[in-house]
Amino acid sequence: MFEKPLLIETADGSFTFSLPTQKVTYRSKYGARRESQQVFLGGSQILKQSSSPWRIVELGFGTGMNFLETARACFERKVALEYVSFENKPLGLSELESVISANGYQDESASELVRAVFSDFEYSQKDRRIKARDRSLSLELCFCNWGDIDFGQDKFDTVYFDPFGPKSQADSWGPSAFAYAFSLLRVGGTLVTYSSAGQVQRLLKSVGFGVQKLPGPAGKREVLVAHRI
Ligand SMILES: C[S@@+](CC[C@H](N)C(=O)[O-])C[C@H]1O[C@@H](n2cnc3c(N)ncnc32)[C@H](O)[C@@H]1O
Repeated sequence: MFEKPLLIETADGSFTFSLPTQKVTYRSKYGARRESQQVFLGGSQILKQSSSPWRIVELGFGTGMNFLETARACFERKVALEYVSFENKPLGLSELESVISANGYQDESASELVRAVFSDFEYSQKDRRIKARDRSLSLELCFCNWGDIDFGQDKFDTVYFDPFGPKSQADSWGPSAFAYAFSLLRVGGTLVTYSSAGQVQRLLKSVGFGVQKLPGPAGKREVLVAHRI
């Protein structure tokens, strides 16, 4: 039985869920939207690129905030986006609706895609991969563990590496998780994560990444950006 998530307001006025007994929040309590924008969208430099579509793969769909923020920014700048996300403990559609509307995304086509994918999933309860598309935006959810699907090599420009922290999800921070991320990226592609732990830097380097630190958002001194060399 999964714990019921609690909707909380974070320091920048945006909302996320917390799981109080596990002592985790889906996005930072110091600013959920700011974390998505600065760490993931900002770290990946998507909006400075000229190529389109931009192809992102994410470890951990959670509340969908990274997807919704990225889709909004790509829409404003006319960049096509192909977004694939892995999620092994999905929130329910009604929970997603509450966080989508608390954050003001409810009328955007990206939130329509979230609804389409999660209602298909709730209806079928067995499809592991569900995809929805609206013009230059596509969303594919892989309802399984990170690493369980073979996409072939070099398929993505960016990895959003976003599990809960290693204290609660140690397996998601192991060498095989980073090796899989490396294999999915094209040469020159980028992995971004909110962690800056020494162990994470060492693992990234051990699978072949070049690692850089960037200033973090509120509540985090530094975050990591890793490049497939
Ligand atoms: C920090 S939350 C993700 C937040 C999300 N990106 C957002 O914008 O709201 C971590 C999510 O990753 C999922 N997760 C963690 N490890 C995973 C794994 N190995 N495979 C698939 N999903 C995983 C968790 O179930 C959880 O929903």
